[in-house]
Amino acid sequence: MRNYRIVVIPGDNIGPELIEAALDVLETVQKTEGDFKVAFETHQAGAAYYAKTGVAMSPETLEACRSADSVLKGPVGDPAVRTPDGIEAGLLGGILRSGLDLFANVRPVRLYPGVSTPLQGYEAGGIDYVVVRENTEGLYASRGRGVGGPNAMADTMIMTRPGVERIVRFAFNLAQKREGPPSDGVRRVTCVEKSNVLRSFVFFRDIFFEVAAEYPGIEAETIYPDAAAQALVMNPGHYDVMVMENFLGDILSDLGGGTIGGLGMCPGGNIGDAYSYFEPVHGSAPDIAGKGVANPMSQILSAAMMLRHIGEAAASSRIEKAVWKVLETGDVRFDERGRAVPGTKAVTKAVIGRLEDS
Ligand code: NAD
Ligand code: IPM
Ligand code: MN
Repeated sequence: MRNYRIVVIPGDNIGPELIEAALDVLETVQKTEGDFKVAFETHQAGAAYYAKTGVAMSPETLEACRSADSVLKGPVGDPAVRTPDGIEAGLLGGILRSGLDLFANVRPVRLYPGVSTPLQGYEAGGIDYVVVRENTEGLYASRGRGVGGPNAMADTMIMTRPGVERIVRFAFNLAQKREGPPSDGVRRVTCVEKSNVLRSFVFFRDIFFEVAAEYPGIEAETIYPDAAAQALVMNPGHYDVMVMENFLGDILSDLGGGTIGGLGMCPGGNIGDAYSYFEPVHGSAPDIAGKGVANPMSQILSAAMMLRHIGEAAASSRIEKAVWKVLETGDVRFDERGRAVPGTKAVTKAVIGRLEDS
């Protein structure tokens, strides 16, 4: 029996609803696989925790995240809970992403069957790319460090050579393991950068091509972010792995979500050399919290990514296939805004049913 210890952070608003769904799926998959066992350890952190205690996460929880095999996190945050300088207080990116040096934010954008996409002419599987978002520097290096006064404010974007090299190399290594994009199967890494205007992006682009030279079998190309926003709507089937600065990755990964049935279809992983955690791309969705209509697939697929990362690839694939099957057969339906028509619990139950049959 292979044993794992996973820290679970339910988070805020829809977070606990989604985590409940993902844990039910994980319990089913480990029961039916039978050769590994995950011990879950729940810790509170986020905006509600900050409102109660004055910190977003306790030092004990951070230590638990370090010592666990990985972490499954629900979305956190509440726009009303802010620090005295005005930014949101209950977020964990600074503590977990920077604190644990999780430099790669991996955000797959895959069109599953049966979802409500505004794009026409795309079949299931016709969009299948991964946004590799640099997760520890770029504009977010300025997190909590903005300077200025009543008449001007500045946040600074920082790119370092080791920081850019490692994220670009991560992107090429990922492309090597994939089979290329749906449109032509040509392994490809696309760098999104704004070198027409900003010197930091000239630096990013130059390092991108230096690293690309180490991977002659993979096509390397660049695109400006404004053009990329159009291309991800008009020609998403062309893209395989996309690598970019932190803030650009934040924006374009949500844009990708808008093309594949909404953010509720978007899982993600935050990965470093020593630690990791897995969470949906989206936030805590206060507008639908407590209504039972959130799409839990983002959290369920994040759990599948986590299983693959800790070494349980077979169980991970089984979850992804069960999700595909549920959506393909129309067992459940989502409205045009990506909300679960039969409710979060019914979607989860359908995934569990498919898992038990597989
Ligand atoms: P959001 O991602 O929470 O919501 C954007 C829209 O997508 C909303 O209409 C929401 O209802 C919808 N949506 C999101 N997830 C969904 C799901 N699973 N099923 C169906 N619909 C879904 O973005 P926001 O409203 O800008 O932010 C809300 C809070 O979340 C803020 O406090 C923000 O800072 C925080 N946030 C946290 C994370 C994180 O924990 N990783 C990520 C993004 C935003
Ligand atoms: C995300 C979120 C975070 C980010 C926020 C909540 C700090 O939007 O994970 O994409 O901007 O990175
Ligand atoms: Mn975001």
